[in-house]
Amino acid sequence: MTSNFKPEIVKFDLKTYVMQPFKMGRQVKLGDLKEYFNDLEAAAQILSKGKNPIVYEYYQYTTPEIEGHLTFGVTTIYPGNVGKEYYMTRGHYHKKDAAEIYLGLSGKGSLLMQTKEGEVTYLDLKPSSIGYVPPGWGHRTINTGIEKLVFYFVYPSDSGHDYELVKEKGFAKIVIEENGVTKVIDNPRF
Ligand code: F6R
Ligand code: ZN
Repeated sequence: MTSNFKPEIVKFDLKTYVMQPFKMGRQVKLGDLKEYFNDLEAAAQILSKGKNPIVYEYYQYTTPEIEGHLTFGVTTIYPGNVGKEYYMTRGHYHKKDAAEIYLGLSGKGSLLMQTKEGEVTYLDLKPSSIGYVPPGWGHRTINTGIEKLVFYFVYPSDSGHDYELVKEKGFAKIVIEENGVTKVIDNPRF
């Protein structure tokens, strides 16, 4: 396929995980994300104290959203909890059945995936681990550690993102900390 898009080198600092140039970035704060957490009261309480912490942010190198291109970038999830639930991304399905790769760079976390048919998988995401999200699997990442969880991602640029299903029901499982122990339990709201 011919393309007007020109080849380019993107600089990626392996100590700070800063990418240059990046063409899009987003910070997601608790206020944007509150209804995705199970403990709505805990979220409201944090926000009522005038705090609106950043839960995660991502920077990506954006290419045309057409077949053949890839989009890649870096996501950082800050350490923290809302009630017992760890900080996490919203999570989504790709509109077009498309796979995605996650490479753990620093910190400790997990990759929660599920199909629309109800199959669920929970995998560790840490440095030197590559998570493969197969086509059709909804995915969310969770920071289960005490430091930032940083990972690199790459997916086909024409994938599209569907947040509605997750917004409505969440994932079948939630990841919580109880007495210092990480637990994956059934989501009471699912
Ligand atoms: C892209 C992808 C990641 C996430 C990012 C934030 O398909 O899976 O880049 O988008 O980690 O998560 P969401 O998009 O669920 O807010
Ligand atoms: Zn994705």
